[in-house]
Amino acid sequence: MTYTDSSTPPVTDWATDYDIFDAAYIADPFSIWDDLRERCPIAHTDRWGGSWLPTRYVDVTEMARNIDDFPSGNGISVMPPPAQDANNVAGQPPLLASGLPPISSDPPLHTWTRRLVLPTMSPARVAEYEVFTRSLCRRLVDEFLVRGEADAAEDYAQQIPVRVIAHILGVPEDMSSTFTGWVRDVLEFAHVPERRFRGITGILEYLTEALDARTANPTDDFISELLQSEHDGQPVDRSVVMGMCALLLIAGIDTTWSSIGSSMWHLATHPDDRARLVAEADLWPTAIEELLRAYAPVTMARRLGHDVEFQGCPMKAGDRILMNFPAANRDPEQFEHPDQVILDREHNRHVAFGAGIHRCAGSNLARMELRVALEEWLARIPEFELVDPALVTWAGGQVRGPRNIPVRF
Ligand code: HEM
Repeated sequence: MTYTDSSTPPVTDWATDYDIFDAAYIADPFSIWDDLRERCPIAHTDRWGGSWLPTRYVDVTEMARNIDDFPSGNGISVMPPPAQDANNVAGQPPLLASGLPPISSDPPLHTWTRRLVLPTMSPARVAEYEVFTRSLCRRLVDEFLVRGEADAAEDYAQQIPVRVIAHILGVPEDMSSTFTGWVRDVLEFAHVPERRFRGITGILEYLTEALDARTANPTDDFISELLQSEHDGQPVDRSVVMGMCALLLIAGIDTTWSSIGSSMWHLATHPDDRARLVAEADLWPTAIEELLRAYAPVTMARRLGHDVEFQGCPMKAGDRILMNFPAANRDPEQFEHPDQVILDREHNRHVAFGAGIHRCAGSNLARMELRVALEEWLARIPEFELVDPALVTWAGGQVRGPRNIPVRF
């Protein structure tokens, strides 16, 4: 899969002209980051509205923790902010007047909206969702086991997170592929304004109806819980509820699907690691962290509110920074042999889930989904391999992961 627009000239120097939608970056960002870390650890481009790209662990984590200089409230998309023209299809829908809190907000909005999300993602709640997730994974494997082949991305990884989050939010499972389409439009095709608009409009129209229905007839799902919650003695504003529900859909689907998919691709191509996971039950906790580190899918952005001089880079108000958590996870200053997947790696302070106040609120859920997906697959299909490496496709941009992994077993 390629996103290189035929009108976009090829990249000649990644330090001054990078393009995260370029086919070469999607196929192998690792060697590009290695090169940049050596000669220009914070790269710059004028493409896609202009941005800076840090590649070292220390820089990415320092920026993530410095919310005064690197706030989230001015925008978190790797794409430039939409024009304020009402006719522009990329314009911000008024229903999202509060953005997507907590991820797109700074304190104080960030603080109390994050507090509202966390209980839903607590270890105890996630343990409850595990029952549903495990039976879902078994159901999916049942559908293709006898065929002796499947697409480990499309038939498996892609099907899991959307159904789990639909279950949590209380939306019907038969909407799953529609939600997946909308979320891909928002994240994977963020550089195609019509698709980005279609995705966000679809999500918001759906949620508008869902919120109306829960207001009339409350149930015990997360949407109803939010509608009944209060902040400072007042009911939470509807635009905040809308933004939070939209965020859970957007944050919970492509990300986890990509992590499960990359891990499936790794296991299909590394028989020794596959055999170890099948044979050594104690390996699971470190193995999950290592797969998250090595194939971290998410790059978020920040947009500066004032000029900042960072590591000699003259960053200006309005500039965007791509928070390159995946590159930080491959920094040899932080990780020994960063390009090797070492399933029993001892020291692994990876930042696949970010760092600082915006650290992923769904990390317990994501870890559970990844572990259960791999456990259930390996329990029934311990031996499998790629049908043909040339048939594997990857998506990139804000979330990187495989979109097709045909395997046989
Ligand atoms: C492997 C899967 C996932 C990865 C790699 C991931 C990664 C991230 C990252 C890097 C951030 C920080 C963003 C920033 O600094 O701007 C983040 C934030 C967030 N994630 Fe995840 N995420 C995953 C799954 C999920 C799931 C399943 C959910 C819930 C359904 C979720 C909900 C959130 C929320 C609500 C935030 C915002 C937290 C805040 O701003 O305080 N994520 N995630």
